[in-house]
Amino acid sequence: MQKVLILDFGGQYNQLIARRVRENRVYCEVHPHDMPMEEIRRFAPIGIIFTGGPGSVYLPDAPKVDPAVFTLGVPILGICYGCQLMAQMLGGRVTAAQNDAAREYGKTQTSFDPGCALFRGLPEESVTWMSHGDYMAQAPQGFRLAAHSAVCPTAAICDEERRLYGVQFHPEVNHTAYGREMLHNFLYGICAAGGDWTMADYKTQAIAGIQEKVGDGKALLALSGGVDSSVAAALMAEAIGSRLTCVFVDHGLMRKNEGDQVEAAFAHRDLRFIRINAEERFLSRLASVVEPERKRKIIGEEFVRVFEETAGQIGAVDYLVQGTIYPDVIESGKGDAAVIKSHHNVGGLPDSVNFREILEPLRLLFKDEVRQLGRELGLPEALICRQPFPGPGLAIRIIGEVTKEKLDVLREADAIFREEMARAGLGQSADQYFAALTNMRSVGVMGDGRSYDYAIALRSVQTSDFMTADWSRLPYELLDRASVRIVNEVRGVNRVLYDITSKPPATVEYE
Ligand code: XMP
Repeated sequence: MQKVLILDFGGQYNQLIARRVRENRVYCEVHPHDMPMEEIRRFAPIGIIFTGGPGSVYLPDAPKVDPAVFTLGVPILGICYGCQLMAQMLGGRVTAAQNDAAREYGKTQTSFDPGCALFRGLPEESVTWMSHGDYMAQAPQGFRLAAHSAVCPTAAICDEERRLYGVQFHPEVNHTAYGREMLHNFLYGICAAGGDWTMADYKTQAIAGIQEKVGDGKALLALSGGVDSSVAAALMAEAIGSRLTCVFVDHGLMRKNEGDQVEAAFAHRDLRFIRINAEERFLSRLASVVEPERKRKIIGEEFVRVFEETAGQIGAVDYLVQGTIYPDVIESGKGDAAVIKSHHNVGGLPDSVNFREILEPLRLLFKDEVRQLGRELGLPEALICRQPFPGPGLAIRIIGEVTKEKLDVLREADAIFREEMARAGLGQSADQYFAALTNMRSVGVMGDGRSYDYAIALRSVQTSDFMTADWSRLPYELLDRASVRIVNEVRGVNRVLYDITSKPPATVEYE
């Protein structure tokens, strides 16, 4: 498999660069900028990309790269800081921009030399996304200028003989009109990529790798019903069959029919599937609890306890499988973090479960690759495209005390909202949407009588990172249909509200 190496100088778009490369069906990995030369040689990249970064290349503590990288004969693309670093290390000159005009931030009209292989076949003028306060005053010897903007004569440089390219702008962000095409040119036109990264091949290789590693050992997996743990389970099952045990703790806080759907998705597979129906246990621990953090804590602890008891009954296992994916690995900043993390919807896993090693079969995949792998493994589309669903489930979508009665009300209302979103063709365009039970009751009139019932809040958000989110501008007709149906079909609800708060200041969930 051909591989591209992305050397990380701390830029904010590094993951995006990796995504763009993978979208081009070329495998890549992000590694720290000081990756030792012998490791780089062993990695055997067909091309190297230097990312952007917050530093200034002329400062003493600026992150550098081993200069021997330029003698490998491998094509290099430097982006922003990466471009300045390449220029400086090869004898060019980089300085702080003299005045505000030479600094560039935002969309910038840029002219290109289509004779440069990076810009071949693209318009001679287009918009790029700039974000630099430093400035390449002089390109190194052997390089020529390949793009300029009104204030910056050195928007791109290239030495086609040595196949070294640098751009001051960010081709990986959408604001750069032809950024995708430029990366495609780099990968295919310059690095001679063949596009050999597909999920069908990955599946075959991953299964062979797991079989070799696990041998005739046994593995245990905590299945949440989320995309990552489900795909990890299906992949492991293909590899080791019934030597995999999946434990699905149904805490009774799932959405309508969700527990059964998870079970059905794995029913016909060759694995051991254990569903623990722990609704009563969770609800009795949650009785009278109204404080949000307390609720979360109780659910997390109870999850660990149930899992631990089940694992104890199964006996010693060799491997604990986790659904860690590549963004978590990149963010943790190290390539081999084999610690038990409390992510992936299943709470923190217990230390006392008896296993030898952790397996993370998805640790090199991005989310959309995980979904594609799920399709290759024949998982149902509803599971593959499942929205993020928090580990504490509906408990944090019910303000105040959680009871079975309230859960049932919320499940029905939520199912109707999701049905109406799908019917309106918006099921995939909003990033997360759900109903919440406000715990507020108000007076209404139904038929000839007075009602005093709950208000349901509908929430739908647009977000790419879930750190910030904007509320979805849903059509009134859709909101109207959902409202009418919820009030008519769900007993105990007489009012429907639509939440028009962004995050911040609100959060996506209610608790
Ligand atoms: P907030 O409410 O913090 O949610 O704006 C941001 C995203 O995180 C999800 N979320 C959780 N996911 N365990 C999870 O696995 C949790 O305890 C949890 N709390 C919030 C939430 O659904 C949204 O996607």
